[in-house]
Amino acid sequence: MIGVLFVCLGNICRSPMAEAVFRHMVAEQNLTDHIKVDSAGTGDWHIGNSPHHGTQRILDVHQIRHDDLRARQVQASDFEQFHYIVCMDEDNVRDAKSFAKRAHNAELVRLLDYVADEPLRNVPDPYFTGNFEQTFELVEKSCKALLHHIRRQHQI
Ligand code: 4NP
Repeated sequence: MIGVLFVCLGNICRSPMAEAVFRHMVAEQNLTDHIKVDSAGTGDWHIGNSPHHGTQRILDVHQIRHDDLRARQVQASDFEQFHYIVCMDEDNVRDAKSFAKRAHNAELVRLLDYVADEPLRNVPDPYFTGNFEQTFELVEKSCKALLHHIRRQHQI
């Protein structure tokens, strides 16, 4: 099983959006038995909460399930459980690293690293921008590229 963990700050806007979009694509491509998907936040303020209503609304527009998503914080064991720790921005990369307790093989990356032709390197946080459409478009485009990368890397 290949593990993919999406990470943002609060785990209510960007990373649950990426989790929902990515697992939808994984299911569409019949890869549910090969890839497990989760998300977490570096902060602890929203633990146990459903995604932000803006994230829920944009996922509803695109008919992507999100009802079971609840926020949780990154934990040390994530670095053993997940191969790809896919962060939304550079702060998330720095903060996520601080949860790792020992040497690990997880690949700590930014989601937009998978999209070469995109000038933005950090996924804008709609908690502050209010623009859930922009974030959704970036998440969708880069999740598609990430899945392509994983399929090639693991020959699945
Ligand atoms: P996220 O957005 O990291 O995309 O989930 C945020 C959500 C909540 C807060 C900050 C960012 N907050 O400060 O509560």
